[in-house]
Amino acid sequence: MVRTPDSNAGEKRAAGEAAAGMVRDGMVLGLGTGSTVAWTIKKIGEMVEEGMEVLGVPTSYQAQELAIAAGIPLTSLDQDPVLDLAIDGADEIAKDLTAIKGGGAAHAREKVVAASARWFVIVADSSKYVDSLSHPVPVEVLPIAGRLASRRIEELGGSPQIRQAKMKDGPVITDNGNFVIDADFGRIEDPGGLAARLSEIPGVVEHGIFENVNELVVVIDGAVKTFRRE
Ligand code: 5RP
Repeated sequence: MVRTPDSNAGEKRAAGEAAAGMVRDGMVLGLGTGSTVAWTIKKIGEMVEEGMEVLGVPTSYQAQELAIAAGIPLTSLDQDPVLDLAIDGADEIAKDLTAIKGGGAAHAREKVVAASARWFVIVADSSKYVDSLSHPVPVEVLPIAGRLASRRIEELGGSPQIRQAKMKDGPVITDNGNFVIDADFGRIEDPGGLAARLSEIPGVVEHGIFENVNELVVVIDGAVKTFRRE
């Protein structure tokens, strides 16, 4: 299935806006990247306009621009190292709340922001919610490590592809100046084990397997549902 930012737009909006209901006055927030959490950011902007006081740490240039447009005052992890709540999207999330992120090439910053939060929430439409993970894993690598990392991914049983920019010739360059390899492993039986192996590859900055999701807000059968990690 080919997904675009407009796929399941209604569900994305419902999940994204529902998660904004978790925001409380005085919170410092992690603001994720993508078309689902964009609805959360817009909703938080409306809450700020109505008088709520929050600060946001964006996970990407895209999130930063959206937050500025929404009127959310920004801060940084240097000024506010511990966040009350981080909200982000996902490319796939399994029922045990292990997720794959990085479709927007922002997963390195997203992981740092999520790990800085006391509570990390994923917002998703129904197409993202699966029994077990099988989405290609985005792996951000130093440009010099592209070939080495691709070889190591093959040795791990994966099929690597350096992500190409849509609008111009050449690879996608992340906000950190790196490449992204999309590593297809088919069905991932042991996400934690794969995460550890990927982290060991020299030149890998960060992979897109997230094991620290506390709560999922997802649309199932037309209704917003929430699941918390046991
Ligand atoms: C960016 C991400 C996004 O959160 C993920 O790709 C989901 O995007 P969308 O909400 O547009 O489907 O991980 O790196």
